[in-house]
Order: sequence, then structure tokens, then C-alpha cells
Amino acid sequence: MLTTPEVIDTIGGLRARLAEAGERHAGGSPCVVLVPTMGALHAGHLALVRRARELGDTVVVSIFVNPLQFGAGEDLASYPRTLGADVVALATVGVDVVFAPTSRIMYPHGPSSTRVTAGNVGTLYEGAARPGHFDGMLTVVGKLINIVDPDVIVFGQKDAQQVFLVETMLADLDFRPVIEVVPIVREEGGLALSSRNRNLVEEQHAAAGALSAGLAAAASVAGRGVAAAQQAAHALIDAQPLVKLDYLVVVDPQTFLPVATDHHGPARMLVAALVGSTRLIDNAALDLN
Ligand code: PAF
Repeated sequence: MLTTPEVIDTIGGLRARLAEAGERHAGGSPCVVLVPTMGALHAGHLALVRRARELGDTVVVSIFVNPLQFGAGEDLASYPRTLGADVVALATVGVDVVFAPTSRIMYPHGPSSTRVTAGNVGTLYEGAARPGHFDGMLTVVGKLINIVDPDVIVFGQKDAQQVFLVETMLADLDFRPVIEVVPIVREEGGLALSSRNRNLVEEQHAAAGALSAGLAAAASVAGRGVAAAQQAAHALIDAQPLVKLDYLVVVDPQTFLPVATDHHGPARMLVAALVGSTRLIDNAALDLN
């Protein structure tokens, strides 16, 4: 399918376009599906959009590099901005509207003083390494929900902590949309697709495969318990000198807090590492019987 999406950069313009779409679907209210992104799209994003297309009548992809979720010294300035190529890629998967506002449109008075706070889980793992990141992320997701008013909002499982926090926000603040979570898309070698992978030189790219290999090894021995799973993952990741592990933790999917060593049942292993100056994250489900 090749339909060039309409690119809209104002809130008023987007709302008018979605109101029109609503009138066209006179038989009932249309299902509007929002896929929030920061652009630099890859096959993982396109998988989110394909799922959105299956679920809805009107698919909106937002492309906005949200300054609120970058800390001082992080890669806000160098974060890849590839709107033209992103729109071309989105045309292949049938997107109706690309909402690509500037920071001035989203934050006309500078960074908003009002923030959604992510709470305790927002200070752990990625939140410990990137203070304020999840408050900024939830704030923009809340704004996008208010702007687009989607029925469904689609996220990728790769950002597992983000998914947990968005689910929590939707429930805690009674937001209307339901969340749809799409499995991680991986390269042939296992590396989870990420916009940041393009920063890796060849040998870093090869080394980064240790993260997914470690997770797979952990999942394969999870029946032997938390310690066995952690050891299996460490054995592969720690053997890679180019991969500087930040955290490797097994969490309870219900609370996102670390599990006890004798935990049984479903769990999720999260890893984050620096490969060169590129921060990579990944995760996998573990069945701790
Ligand atoms: O996952 C992302 O790309 C961002 O955190 C999101 C959800 C688009 C909010 O800026």
C-alpha cells in the first residue's frame, strides 16, 4: 500500500483533520489509533504502525523529539531527525496523518512547568540513569493523548519500563485510550532495533549482540530460578569488553520491582548498557517456574 500521509504540524490543524475523519465515518465513531514516535523510524516502528493499521480506521503517527525527556548532556541535539525519510517509510504502511509539531507548538512558553510524575518506578533502572526522563516522557504522552484523542495508543515492548509507566498513567489518570503493546523487532543476529543502533560502528554493533544473546540464555535457563537466569545473562554480556553493563535486573511484571531470589512465575529481565557512547536497552520475558 502506498498512500502519502498528510503531514500536519499544528494542534488546530490536526484536530480539524480528525474531526473531518469523524464526519466521514458517519456510521459510528471511527477508531483513531496513535503511534507516538520520535522519528528516525526503523522496521520496529513500522511494526507498530502495521498493528495500528489493523486496529483502526485512522492511523496517526506523531514524530516529535521531546526535549522534556532528555537530560543535560544527553543526545537531544544529535538525536537523528529524518522527517522526509520517515514520511516516505510511513507511506509504505498506510498512515493517514503524520503529526510533526515543533517544540514551539508543543511548548509555546518553553518547557512546561506542569509535569506528569512517574513515581517510584520512574526513578529506577532507566530512570536512575536518566533522572526526569520518564516524567518528561509521560508529560508528552499525556499531551499527545489530549491533542489526538485516540481510542488506542500503540507502544513497543522494547521500552518495557516506558510501557509499564504509560499503562500505570492511563489507569491512574483515567485516560480514555487502551494501550496496545507490540513485540520487540530484532535484527537477524538478535539485536533489538533502535534508532540509536545507527550510532554503532561495525565492531560495536557486533558486540551489542551480547545483550540479546544474554537475555536468550537467561530465558532458556529460567526454569532453574532467578540466580541461574542472571548468571547465564552475565556470562555472555560481561565477556564483551565493548559492552559496559549499566543494569541487569529481573522484575515482577505486575509491580516492575525486582523479584525476590525465590520468585516463581512470570518475570521480565531488563538490561541496559553503554556500547561506546550509545546507550542500549533490551528485555525479555522469563518464566521462573
Ligand atoms: O518511545 C519514544 O519514542 C518516546 O519515548 C515517546 C513515547 C514517543 C514519547 O516521546
